[in-house]
Amino acid sequence: MKYLDEIVCKECISFMKELPDNCIDLTMTSPPYDNLRDYNGFMLDCENIIHELYRITAKGGVVVWVVGDAIKKGNKTLTSFKQALMFQNAGFNMHDVMIYKKKNTPFMRSNAYTNCFEFMFVASKGSPKTFNPLKEPTKRNGYEMLVCNKKADGINHKVLKELKKEKTRNNIWEYAVGLGGSTSDKNAFKHPAIFPEKLASDHILSWTNKDDIVFDPFMGSGTTAKMAKVNRRRYIGCDISAEYVEIAKKRVADTIPQANLFQEIE
Ligand SMILES: C[S@@+](CC[C@H](N)C(=O)[O-])C[C@H]1O[C@@H](n2cnc3c(N)ncnc32)[C@H](O)[C@@H]1O
Repeated sequence: MKYLDEIVCKECISFMKELPDNCIDLTMTSPPYDNLRDYNGFMLDCENIIHELYRITAKGGVVVWVVGDAIKKGNKTLTSFKQALMFQNAGFNMHDVMIYKKKNTPFMRSNAYTNCFEFMFVASKGSPKTFNPLKEPTKRNGYEMLVCNKKADGINHKVLKELKKEKTRNNIWEYAVGLGGSTSDKNAFKHPAIFPEKLASDHILSWTNKDDIVFDPFMGSGTTAKMAKVNRRRYIGCDISAEYVEIAKKRVADTIPQANLFQEIE
């Protein structure tokens, strides 16, 4: 396929129009939201972007759309919800609404609680064709102490019961942000709004298999492409800014794919 393992400097709708139908297994992305930052003053045509995303997504493919809301004159814009509804209107199934919780957030408002999360809308074209659930360790190292009923001796004995050592994670994912959190790659911070490498990697591992194609229409500093390469997936993407595309290409070029993937070791 044209542009495979490339990051191209282009506006995303015109870029997607060059891609064939049903070719993308996962789109892992975060749009510029509410003109919160100045991306050369470009206004997003979200409806058409989502329409094109639907066309290029493979049957059972997934789009992970990471977005938060700006506050304008004390009023949350709710752009995130409006965009989520656009996904359903375009034909996507809203498979899950997940939360990206930030571990270290600066204090922001004097009359409201500090916002510490963004939404991760997980939209799929039909039912997802791939789900590799990520696991986390259960508490107490896989054991729990239970009180069992008194026996004939009248004493309350305790028994150590073995639990499963791990369980499937829930849908609130927490990440440290900033240098050493999102990434330790200093170059990436020339971009003002990156998402954590681990967040991208966790979704890539969850919704794709080795050699699947991962797309990011708002590639920014190249986090999605870098983590696709690390995890031995193919990547493709674009960004409207030539400066960011250069940063992204350098980051990906400096990346070595992982020798072992967790699915292969299991
Ligand atoms: C929130 S940032 C993405 C950051 C990225 N996830 C990362 O980790 O570096 C959004 C990006 O969208 C780009 N952008 C804005 N409008 C665009 C458009 N219409 N087409 C392609 N890229 C666009 C901006 O230049 C910016 O780099």
